[in-house]
Amino acid sequence: MASLSATKAETFNYGVVRQFAIMTVVWGIVGMLVGVIIAAQLLWPQLNFDIAWLTYGRLRPLHTNAVIFAFGGSALFAASYYVVQRTCQARLFCGPLAAFTFWGWQLIIVGAAITLPLGITTSKEYAELEWPIDILITLVWVAYAIVFFGTIIKRKAKHIYVANWFFGSYILTIAVLHIVNNIELPVSMWKSYSAYAGVQDAMVQWWYGHNAVGFFLTTSFLGMMYYFIPKQAQRPIYSYRLSIVHFWALAFTYMWAGPHHLLYTSLPDWTQSLGMVFSLILLAPSWGGMINGIMTLSGAWHKLRTDPILKFMVVSLSFYGMSTFEGSMMSIRTVNALSHYTDWTIGHVHSGALGWVAMITFGMLYYLIPRLWGREKMYSTKLIEVHFWIATIGVVLYIASMWIAGVMQGLMWRATEPDGSLTYSFVESVKSTFPFYAIRLAGGALYLSGMLLMAYNVFKTVIGEKAVNPEIPADSAAVRPMLATAPASA
Ligand code: HEM
Ligand code: HEM
Repeated sequence: MASLSATKAETFNYGVVRQFAIMTVVWGIVGMLVGVIIAAQLLWPQLNFDIAWLTYGRLRPLHTNAVIFAFGGSALFAASYYVVQRTCQARLFCGPLAAFTFWGWQLIIVGAAITLPLGITTSKEYAELEWPIDILITLVWVAYAIVFFGTIIKRKAKHIYVANWFFGSYILTIAVLHIVNNIELPVSMWKSYSAYAGVQDAMVQWWYGHNAVGFFLTTSFLGMMYYFIPKQAQRPIYSYRLSIVHFWALAFTYMWAGPHHLLYTSLPDWTQSLGMVFSLILLAPSWGGMINGIMTLSGAWHKLRTDPILKFMVVSLSFYGMSTFEGSMMSIRTVNALSHYTDWTIGHVHSGALGWVAMITFGMLYYLIPRLWGREKMYSTKLIEVHFWIATIGVVLYIASMWIAGVMQGLMWRATEPDGSLTYSFVESVKSTFPFYAIRLAGGALYLSGMLLMAYNVFKTVIGEKAVNPEIPADSAAVRPMLATAPASA
């Protein structure tokens, strides 16, 4: 099997990119498997076998941490390290530090996989990990920033390609979010208390939670989009100017939208309204980005018939557009009054997560893997095509069932009799949700089986015969036509 480490002959440090690319596949399988298990537990609670660490409450944060930080995080490290080197035409700054980010990140994930099932948690959603792991995250993240910005500083290309702007802002923002939200007082090795209390705690938590979605699951993946879609379509970005406007508008607007997670709570009313208004404004830059990505295919639409990698990328953008439209609508207070606490939110989350984040990642991996290992192409294009259809059907089953279930739950909970009593008891709504949970489980299982197909295809590609020299000297073929459309000041 080809070595995962960089060879001396390489101009670029591909070793660390290879490592993160492989771990993206591994953690994707683990995280989604846990997702399928908890989806099954919602149907059959006895699947926890009365073992504390197999209970839903402990496996759920394991799922979210594994898919967001292990799967999504590894994909982002791979993408940013690859893109920054090729577009800056410079080797990654400080190889040992880059290696530290790989091993440190894996250690954090293992730490999460041990502590969360043991019930060790801060109980803050998406920031559940306890203080010793938080400190390790900070160290790895600072190292990541040094490697990334160090490479930008030593770049040989004058221009900083727009994908790097997106990656750079995600790295900076996540550092600020992580540190501020995790200010806590340790009382023992595995227990700490938040520095904030009451409504301030909620506000800081959802400022973090929302921007974790905005920068970890969106801005960063847009960086991925701005590099890999033009490359795969072999077309320059539709509008470079729009990409810069998109960047600033998105970065500015996201920051204010957090309170839409706390509508109808004790948060001051004006803060809730502010969150709602900014969430509605957010639709404009979100769709601007989507349109820029999709229109990049102008003149290359015919490729969609034969290129399953491009299919993944374009469908991911469609889901991005759909989930951002949905999110803006759900931020309207009266809509949120119906959707909040229901499975509609879960449908929204997964149309973003499975449809956008995971699909664009699959497209990137299928592009990247043959290039990283010096193969002409993936072992089987047919299998990519099958994966595409399985994943698409899987995500549609997942989100459609959750939308119907969510709206049904919201309507059942608010239905009242003329005398003011509730029409339905809570358990009746749970019973009615049962068939939809079965459909979601089927969709999730399909999606996971697509991941397994991808793992097989990746494995066969990596162990296959070396066909071409991985060291294509620079990225000029891709970047020059794109830069040609870039305004000099951008
Ligand atoms: C096979 C694929 C997947 C399945 C079957 C699955 C299943 C689930 C289930 C059953 C829940 C709990 C829902 C509830 O509490 O009612 C959940 C929550 C969640 N999942 Fe997934 N999931 C999958 C993939 C993903 C991926 C790839 C991501 C992100 C990249 C993701 C992100 C999340 C998040 C953020 C939540 C928490 C949602 C919230 O609190 O509102 N999932 N998932
Ligand atoms: C314009 C863009 C978006 C807006 C305005 C938006 C808005 C919202 C709203 C209103 C909620 C429900 C809050 C609640 O009732 O509790 C929500 C939940 C959520 N959204 Fe979005 N959304 C957007 C895009 C996305 C995308 C692209 C993703 C994923 C990649 C995503 C992931 C999530 C997650 C994980 C939650 C659940 C948080 C939780 O309660 O645990 N959102 N979003």
